[in-house]
Amino acid sequence: MDRITTSSLCAAVIVLLAQSPAQTPATVHVDLVAAPGTVDLAPGVRVNAWLYGGTLPGQVLRARQGQTLRVRFHNRLPEPTAVHWHGQPVRLGMDGVPDVSRPAVAPGQEFVYELTDLVPGTYWYHPHAHGMQLDVGLYGALIVDPANPADDPPFDLERTIVLDDWTSRLGGAFGGHLINGRNSDGQTPIDVQPGQRLRLRVINASAVTNYVFALDGHAMTVTHADGNRVQPVVTQAIPIGIGERYDVLVDCNNPGVWSLAASSITARATTLVRGVVRYAGQTQPPPPAAFVPPNLATGTLFGYAQLASFSPVPPIAATPDRSYTALLGMRMTTSGMVHTINGQSWPNVTPFVVAPGDSVQLTMTGMGMPGMGMAEYHPMHLHGHFFRLLGTAGGTASPPRKDTLLVPPGSSFQVQWIADNPGRWMFHCHNAEHLETGMMTTFDYTGDADGDGIASRIDMEPTAATPVVAIPDRAAAFAPGASDVIAVQWTPGQLFALFVGFAELATPLPLPPLGVFELDPAHAALLGVAAADAAGLASVPYGIPGDPALVGLRLGLQGAGATALPGGLRLSTFQRLTVR
Ligand code: C2O
Ligand code: CU
Repeated sequence: MDRITTSSLCAAVIVLLAQSPAQTPATVHVDLVAAPGTVDLAPGVRVNAWLYGGTLPGQVLRARQGQTLRVRFHNRLPEPTAVHWHGQPVRLGMDGVPDVSRPAVAPGQEFVYELTDLVPGTYWYHPHAHGMQLDVGLYGALIVDPANPADDPPFDLERTIVLDDWTSRLGGAFGGHLINGRNSDGQTPIDVQPGQRLRLRVINASAVTNYVFALDGHAMTVTHADGNRVQPVVTQAIPIGIGERYDVLVDCNNPGVWSLAASSITARATTLVRGVVRYAGQTQPPPPAAFVPPNLATGTLFGYAQLASFSPVPPIAATPDRSYTALLGMRMTTSGMVHTINGQSWPNVTPFVVAPGDSVQLTMTGMGMPGMGMAEYHPMHLHGHFFRLLGTAGGTASPPRKDTLLVPPGSSFQVQWIADNPGRWMFHCHNAEHLETGMMTTFDYTGDADGDGIASRIDMEPTAATPVVAIPDRAAAFAPGASDVIAVQWTPGQLFALFVGFAELATPLPLPPLGVFELDPAHAALLGVAAADAAGLASVPYGIPGDPALVGLRLGLQGAGATALPGGLRLSTFQRLTVR
């Protein structure tokens, strides 16, 4: 096993000290820690939770379109997890679905998510593991600002509104609904001035509740649906399925202290949680938590049929290359009720198949019968792509783009998308109970996406080979004298070599179709070589020389695979680590 040599690291230190630290404005670096914690849902209402960044909701991740968001994720939970960037059409390897896009991040390990080509708008992140993780506080907003600020409608102030249903699964005495991690008693008013225009970014991060929300005394103008800008629609009350996002503008022209309230889509006349919008100079107390704004209970409901895309989108194809139907139902089995897509329940499913470049049409039909005890709403979400919705004000030329669609019982919707992001992509109901009981399948791309002559797992990550670099998440693991193991996902049987260096190429070296090399070869050393096992994991041991002068050194890591296969060398994404 090759080890990094003391001399190369010492040389690294000397050169590093002679340089001012290189900042890449094109990249936003964030550390994101998932760990158990406690939160106060209101004064005196403390519950146990699992949290991103120690807060509920988790820390807001924000970047500008065109920037790379590099999230160094630390898993300090007691079980494996991964982070899914809901709605962003990321590369498969970054999509955060354990065992579909890549193995999960083990407890105590870290993984660097590199999110490129981010689409502007309001998104969110959450784990995609099964079980408890979906319902114990692991969620946060991911906001991407347009490269050109004029691509957003004008507004004076903005707030993010994250809705959640809370069940205190980890302990605590509260069951009910939350806005921004607080119940109705814990809300901090949104303070506005008369004449201001308020932008609300509303996210439904709940486990099982499809909400309706409304602001008493005000109309709202919908400007974005699932991050995508739409032609403005003025409305009184907005249904928002689990996973959906709406950006709305409120013209603050009705001074007072108002309830921003949410109810369930199946019981609009009961306020489940409310926030407060308070005009300057208004001193009256907030409306009671149970107060039901008239527009929440009976105001005209916003509907998908009103949507049209604001920006150009591919028009609806008259004759799509593939047409599929997804019948959303349930059925009784010997082990209980399961939820089904076309009668099948995850993981015993036949994937839908698409080829790169296909236009794909999908009809989603809710099989439940209203009033028959099967009136289930299914917020259906497709990973890796936006679909365009048919049958709206946008017609076939300007259909709205979305990633999640709330399908009411007994209703049917058609969507189309272009198969432009090869891989294996989840398509599932975002209701945690329906998901847990099987309402999930995948869309699998066919063929040899990377053109190496072999249809293989790597075809699922074709735009760049992006192996897991699971780096020990302990400061001691990168202290002088330490040794540990860095694990990498790689093609089974192939050799993988991990290089380390301190200097990055000013202009990364493209080696198409393999990827991009970012380390300066003149200052790189071989850290280790390992063969990937049958599960596609290569473990590369390393050792840091016992030289205290190394503390603070930033190293770059990049991998390459040598192979007898026609694909030849493959490069991993570039990672940075710090000797602490
Ligand atoms: Cu919000 Cu499959 O994800
Ligand atoms: Cu469902």
